[in-house]
Amino acid sequence: MQLLAGKSIAMTGGGGGLGRCYGLAMAKAGASIAVADIDMAAARATVDAITHAGGRAIAVHTDVTQAAAIDELLDRTEAAWGPLDVLVNIAGTFPRRALVDMAEAQWDAVITLNLKSVYLGARAAIRRMLPRGRGVVLSTASGTGIRGQPKGSAYAASKAGIIGFTRAVSLELKDTGVRINCFGPGATDTPLWRVGKTEEEIKRLLAAGFVYQPDEFSNVVVFLASDYSAPLNGEFISRDLHR
Ligand SMILES: NC(=O)c1ccc[n+]([C@@H]2O[C@H](COP(=O)([O-])OP(=O)(O)OC[C@H]3O[C@@H](n4cnc5c(N)ncnc54)[C@H](O)[C@@H]3O)[C@@H](O)[C@H]2O)c1
Repeated sequence: MQLLAGKSIAMTGGGGGLGRCYGLAMAKAGASIAVADIDMAAARATVDAITHAGGRAIAVHTDVTQAAAIDELLDRTEAAWGPLDVLVNIAGTFPRRALVDMAEAQWDAVITLNLKSVYLGARAAIRRMLPRGRGVVLSTASGTGIRGQPKGSAYAASKAGIIGFTRAVSLELKDTGVRINCFGPGATDTPLWRVGKTEEEIKRLLAAGFVYQPDEFSNVVVFLASDYSAPLNGEFISRDLHR
């Protein structure tokens, strides 16, 4: 059974470590995907992986910090695959920086890319979904938003912001047929996770079983994008809050 048969999905950060796995899994579940990324070569590589596996995908150059770019992404998704069913916000960044060393511009850049992009994406998608009475917005939060992490104050604030944003918007969406949820996949071996770590550290953390592989959470994302998760609205589905 294909959980996402016929679904039209836009996914930001689709060229990244998690985006590639989640895109592939959603396409294998029957969805048609617009893979959006600011790095077009990375987006194309995800599209190649999907089409190679027999799925349907297009690459769309998108800067998620720009409202007009997000509208264009959704226009192109709908032109290629029909009315938008699901938006998956994945684009993000995690530059490790102690608070005392963090310039205001760096703080703003993290909050804009990780949090404002979610507001822009959700607003644009939900405006299209409400008149149709159906649709799902998913965003990539993080357990770091709850637990914190050294050198991660802006990142933690942005991810906690996504969780609060999701809860607030879900209340506005009550009984509309449109839903919004977010998830935290746990520390996962991707380029974002490796930033600021030495090879030694990476080896140690991998050997200690501290870090997951990118594909491990894919089926959770497929479930959250599907109608099987219909009872969930405003939730933060996280893997590793307790470890
Ligand atoms: N890897 C982890 O341990 C982990 C854990 C929890 C949450 N997350 C979250 O998952 C998401 C994806 O992370 P990842 O690990 O795959 O990282 P990644 O660095 O592999 O991928 C991030 C992608 O976002 C794209 N991007 C950056 N700026 C953009 C912009 N302005 N517009 C559009 N795309 C842009 C990058 O080009 C890249 O392809 C992030 O939001 C991250 O915070 C990751």
